[in-house]
Amino acid sequence: MRGMMLAGGAGTRLFPLSRVSSKQLQPVYDKPMIYYPLATLMSAAIREIHLISTPHDLPVFQEVLGDGHQWGIDLSYGVQPEPGGIAQAVVIGEDFIQGDSFVLVLGDNIFHGPIGLEEEVAKFQSGAVIWGYPVDDPQRYGVIEIDESGSVLSIQEKPDIPLSDLAVPGLYLYDGSAVLRAKNLEPSARGELEITDLNLSFLNDGQLRAVELERDITWLDSGTHESLLDSSNFIATIEKRQGHKVACLEEVAFKMGFVSADDVARTIGAMPHSPYRSYCERAILG
Ligand code: TTP
Repeated sequence: MRGMMLAGGAGTRLFPLSRVSSKQLQPVYDKPMIYYPLATLMSAAIREIHLISTPHDLPVFQEVLGDGHQWGIDLSYGVQPEPGGIAQAVVIGEDFIQGDSFVLVLGDNIFHGPIGLEEEVAKFQSGAVIWGYPVDDPQRYGVIEIDESGSVLSIQEKPDIPLSDLAVPGLYLYDGSAVLRAKNLEPSARGELEITDLNLSFLNDGQLRAVELERDITWLDSGTHESLLDSSNFIATIEKRQGHKVACLEEVAFKMGFVSADDVARTIGAMPHSPYRSYCERAILG
């Protein structure tokens, strides 16, 4: 299974912070935001990963993340010249996807807790899987109604009268038909190829399933100043209470068996002396 991360977009709501760096490279407590969705993919045993960003920001992602060998993964990169929508990035990723199934995660979405992505990936055959997360304010999101078997009955985009409290987070599992479906979409009124329209294309063919996330899982979208601060506070609290870092990529890579103890020791040895390095030494090397 391949993975795609979207780290383009305009980041308008984070202005003026987004003038300093891309939204997905902003700090979420002690790591760049992109570490968290990358850890989500790696924790699902996904090792071939393609990151899409703007022409301006892509070189910085390449500098920060490299080719992924330090984490035992294969990271490649693609450019989205203009923010033409999340579904447009699926078209841009065509050469990477090569007709196979793939997981798409948005670079500003943080998941904490057992979301069961690895299990979904393992049993996935065709169609599309999305997730539903119960929220108090569904009007702000894409909202789904599902039946007991997990089949999606309807999708509404930012509805005035939501048919359920299940918001759709930025995590999607698609079969290879997603590329052609995305190519056939018409731009929306705001001029974007909308991910909701891509999901509707699967729904119209009876091929869209959803997994409801339990309330003990945390989903954070860090696209506003307030949610960015909430995300930092959340991660800081968890890490201090539990004494474990969230989304420490060296630790995830080692636990997943992507790298050997020698490999990870070399990576840690090349880090500057810092609290992050001390944590890696303690948590991974023992
Ligand atoms: P959004 O938060 O919807 O858009 P944005 O990042 O441009 O922010 P703002 O609304 O404040 O201007 O995007 C969700 C995610 O999808 C985010 O990680 C960026 C990514 N994205 C792309 O990679 N390409 C795109 O064309 C769009 C619209 C979003």
